[in-house]
Amino acid sequence: MITHHLNRHLTEEQRRRWIDLLQDAADAVDLPDDPEFRSAFMAYVEWGTRLAKFNSNRKPGYGPAEEPMPQWGWGVPGGPYQPQSGS
Ligand code: HEM
Repeated sequence: MITHHLNRHLTEEQRRRWIDLLQDAADAVDLPDDPEFRSAFMAYVEWGTRLAKFNSNRKPGYGPAEEPMPQWGWGVPGGPYQPQSGS
């Protein structure tokens, strides 16, 4: 993922717009919209977009060309939303 963004000089405004469009796309394809799923999803999007912007503006020769993708989890304790019985 690092090499795709090198020298693209992404701006904060572009990063925010990218996130907005991705959220619209998530709604358009009916990605689950429960709080737990979306917060886990947006945690990855926030992490990934800040890395993309950082790598797009980094100096040549700064750091490794690629790094392993961290294991992504639910973040919120308790995992996916389970409606209470009778709710
Ligand atoms: C979670 C965050 C992101 C991921 C996982 C991601 C992933 C990728 C991947 C896989 C590619 C290569 C696509 C290909 O070769 O077909 C790519 C290219 C690119 N990305 Fe990202 N990206 C992220 C965030 C961003 C953001 C925030 C921007 C701009 C604001 C951006 C702008 C671009 C551009 C301009 C290219 C090159 C497209 C081209 O060569 O035609 N990316 N990205």
